[in-house]
Amino acid sequence: MEFRRTHLLAPSILAANFGAMGQAVSLIETSGADWVHLDVMDGQFVPNISFGPKMIADLRPLTDLVFDTHLMVYRPDHLLKAFADAGSDYITIHLEATNHPHRSIQNIHSMGKKAGISIVPSTPVDHLTELLPSVDLVLIMTVNPGFGGQELIEHSLKKVSRLVELRRAGEWDFLISVDGGVNRITAPLVWSAGADILVAGSAFFRSGNPAEEIALLKGIADDR
Ligand code: DX5
Ligand code: ZN
Repeated sequence: MEFRRTHLLAPSILAANFGAMGQAVSLIETSGADWVHLDVMDGQFVPNISFGPKMIADLRPLTDLVFDTHLMVYRPDHLLKAFADAGSDYITIHLEATNHPHRSIQNIHSMGKKAGISIVPSTPVDHLTELLPSVDLVLIMTVNPGFGGQELIEHSLKKVSRLVELRRAGEWDFLISVDGGVNRITAPLVWSAGADILVAGSAFFRSGNPAEEIALLKGIADDR
């Protein structure tokens, strides 16, 4: 089976004004972006705290777009139900955050949600091999997680190309998402490495014209 490529844009509300999250989600919708990326940080796995399931539940009625929840949280198992009930469509955990990621993935699936696995820049992509048959999404971090506005670590894109190979060889159909430092300069590199989804925080929310930004990022995608 040949994997059918998609090109999706997922703005991260981490870069939005937390006093106006509803407007941030509306902006994502009207800009022509595809998914809403929700960065959850616990102050332990990463050196920052963002928001929890209530934020997601309160935003859920505002849009039908896919909610792509990225849990940067140690031992996330006891929280998975709360994030599922809040209305996440995809729940992504970190390989580095739990001893039994396969069990967490099973838990996410048992709640009827799509499951993702993410790795930080220092984790080799081959450490994911045993999980690839079970996941719906792999999220490659191209910055050290914790903060928006950092520079993309280009070396990490080799993991994306490697994942494309592994996916082809295994005849799997998980999506490949790239998160961190994505902007109009780096986007062409990320698409050509083989990403299906680009997460963009600062590039989207700091843009004077987010719709144009999305069109530009998607235009870059179409040009490939
Ligand atoms: C980093 C988060 C990212 C981040 C992306 O810990 O997982 O989603 O917000 O932000 P930018 O696009 O500004 O690098
Ligand atoms: Zn993220």
